[in-house]
Amino acid sequence: MSTTLHPTARSGASSYSRVHIVLTSAIAALAGLLFGLDIGVISGALPFIAKNFQVGDQMQEWIVSSMMVGAAVGALGSGWVSRVIGRKVSLMIAAALFAGASAICAFALNPAMLIAGRVLLGLAVGIASFTAPLYLSEIAPRTMRGALISLHQLMVTIGILAAFLSNTAFSGAGDWRWMLGVIAFPAIAMLVGLIFLPRSPRWLMSVGRREEALAVLKKLRGDEQTIQTEMREIDEQLKVEFEGWSLFRGNKNFRRSVWLGVLLQIAQQLTGINVVMYYAPRIFGLAGYGSAHDQLWGTVIVGAVNVAATFVAIGLVDRWGRKPILYTGFSVMAIALASLGTLMHVGITSPSHQYAAVAALLVFIAGFAMSAGPMIWILCAEIQPIKGRDFGIAVSTFVNWVANTIAGATFLTLLNTLGHAQTFWLYAALNAAFLLMTLWIVPETKGVSLEQIERNLMAGKALRRIGQ
Ligand code: BGC
Repeated sequence: MSTTLHPTARSGASSYSRVHIVLTSAIAALAGLLFGLDIGVISGALPFIAKNFQVGDQMQEWIVSSMMVGAAVGALGSGWVSRVIGRKVSLMIAAALFAGASAICAFALNPAMLIAGRVLLGLAVGIASFTAPLYLSEIAPRTMRGALISLHQLMVTIGILAAFLSNTAFSGAGDWRWMLGVIAFPAIAMLVGLIFLPRSPRWLMSVGRREEALAVLKKLRGDEQTIQTEMREIDEQLKVEFEGWSLFRGNKNFRRSVWLGVLLQIAQQLTGINVVMYYAPRIFGLAGYGSAHDQLWGTVIVGAVNVAATFVAIGLVDRWGRKPILYTGFSVMAIALASLGTLMHVGITSPSHQYAAVAALLVFIAGFAMSAGPMIWILCAEIQPIKGRDFGIAVSTFVNWVANTIAGATFLTLLNTLGHAQTFWLYAALNAAFLLMTLWIVPETKGVSLEQIERNLMAGKALRRIGQ
């Protein structure tokens, strides 16, 4: 392909670039959607799997959390994989794994095969949850970068809702195989879509394929000056890139931002969000709704509230700032879970108690979706210095999945050993603790440039002040 710009290329390239940006966003949407589908599907399938394979609580915990174990490994390994083979091919591998693993789960002959399928599915989720936002940030025009992080979270919630709806649709016949298998279709659509996407220009330059990078940028940007500026910037950034691990060992200030990312992701998961996502029907059962039909419709409402409240976060994040939103969210979640625990303690014996329990659960979900859901991902992307961004985000994403695994793998055991009320009280107390964590160490980053945050971090300012 010629590398000089044709006189009419400007207009042609800009219509080209619009198409590419729409396509790119669609792929972002599919990666987020698959992430959400896989989080959402298991709650509806689990009761039928348990019945079909005759498995108890411990095996059920393993079936749920095997995917998260795979995701943790996938997230950690994907920094290396996406550097060696590129972002686009990594995403294609993730899409193929999504499709293949969904089929393995759908045809599982026994619990062991199901667990193996879910570990593979997890690898796909882990790779996608790291690589998709990275690819997007490298390919999107600068002005769209922030919006894409929120868009990604919104698509996760839509994926969860879609899974809850599909669970409900297949529940009449108790068809857990279709619930798990149907995810192969969007995965195949993603694989096909990816074939047409360009490689990341930043990655191409990092492996010395400048001509190809230039050709991609011509398709995506369309104006010669923007292209030249961007290539210069990429050259500059590449000089300091991939220093994550040595920076972590040698720089105490970078270690602080990595630990902050780790802490934020632990807090996000230990709010208890995925306990509800994975075991929602069981929780509706505890709230007195006995039939599978009621329980599945209950989860659909949970999914819808999760999507709706995410819009609240998107609308508020650049007006209120991150900290006021997190204060509100952690308080709402602590109060809602404490109320749910108290209702279980006194006994859910009347319809009014049942309504109150469902209301508490929905308030909890809304509290999460309007705060810690998107806010933690945004903060984790904002606090890392440029030299350590890939490393810092890979580590915090890895920890997100480890904490997710721990929450998923212990919930039923907690219910059985601590008791129902006590388990919800424990999560309420954790949310109260995260409120204090926000007060003491979380920075406010609203409206501050990433360069300013980096300067403050590296100058050794207290973490809660690096946004000033
Ligand atoms: C979390 C997921 C969670 C989802 C719920 C995301 O931000 O990382 O673990 O299931 O929100 O909407």
